Amino acid sequence: MSVVRGLAHAFGGAPCHRHMPLSKQRSAEDVGLSQAKEKGPVIAVDGPAASGKGTIARALARHFGLPHMDTGLLYRAVALNLWRWGGDPSSQFEALRACDELGFDPADPDLRSEPVSKLASLISAYPAVRAALLKRQQDFASQAGGAVLDGRDIGTVIAPRAEVKLFVTATPEVRAERRLKELLGCGMNAHYEDVLADIRARDARDSGREVAPLTLAADAILVDTSELGPDQAVAEAVRLAEQRLEEARVR
Ligand code: C5P
Repeated sequence: MSVVRGLAHAFGGAPCHRHMPLSKQRSAEDVGLSQAKEKGPVIAVDGPAASGKGTIARALARHFGLPHMDTGLLYRAVALNLWRWGGDPSSQFEALRACDELGFDPADPDLRSEPVSKLASLISAYPAVRAALLKRQQDFASQAGGAVLDGRDIGTVIAPRAEVKLFVTATPEVRAERRLKELLGCGMNAHYEDVLADIRARDARDSGREVAPLTLAADAILVDTSELGPDQAVAEAVRLAEQRLEEARVR
């Protein structure tokens, strides 16, 4: 699959540009709006692994009719490239080479395999890898119609001026239960203690790295999904996002 097709599919595929004949276009001043207000909203959804942020981000994108980017897939695609080449994950240089020609099929089950998940968590700590993936994410976030992005550093680094920032979390134990269910559901052999240890290790790496660590932005709203089912979590996220957008409109 081509890079473009792969990415369009991965990120919701909604068209990002609205074409209008020049004669019909009106400037922001014509309609009495500042450019910031005319532009579609950016919704940043950050949080640790298995917190429910992906489900929430997809639901928000559907609800507001916005394109969606799962930024974790980019790091997973780099990890998968490196894995397939047999590259050395302890070498930042080799991880950077794996960022070249980042075409991938988002439906490829290898992207979500355990070795690739571990590798993605490792290589995402390299500043050169993060820098190589930065523009693609920022371009997606700055498209005219607005966008929803989920990841670890959306509200802090990729889109610090996002109109809505949600930080979705749950206890490590609840997240491990969810991940275990997923793995067993795919017919994989997994044990709760191992999954919990893995979640804790990934949390420590994501939160402890020097560049773009996973952290709650000052203006983010915390959504704890520990005691919420998927439907309740989505309903709460939609309510909070609508409230934030309404506040931004009246400001
Ligand atoms: O979200 P997901 O688990 O698919 O992300 C895979 C890995 O990519 C994570 O373990 C995390 O370390 C990294 N990541 C990141 N920054 C993002 C998205 C993901 O560091 N914005």
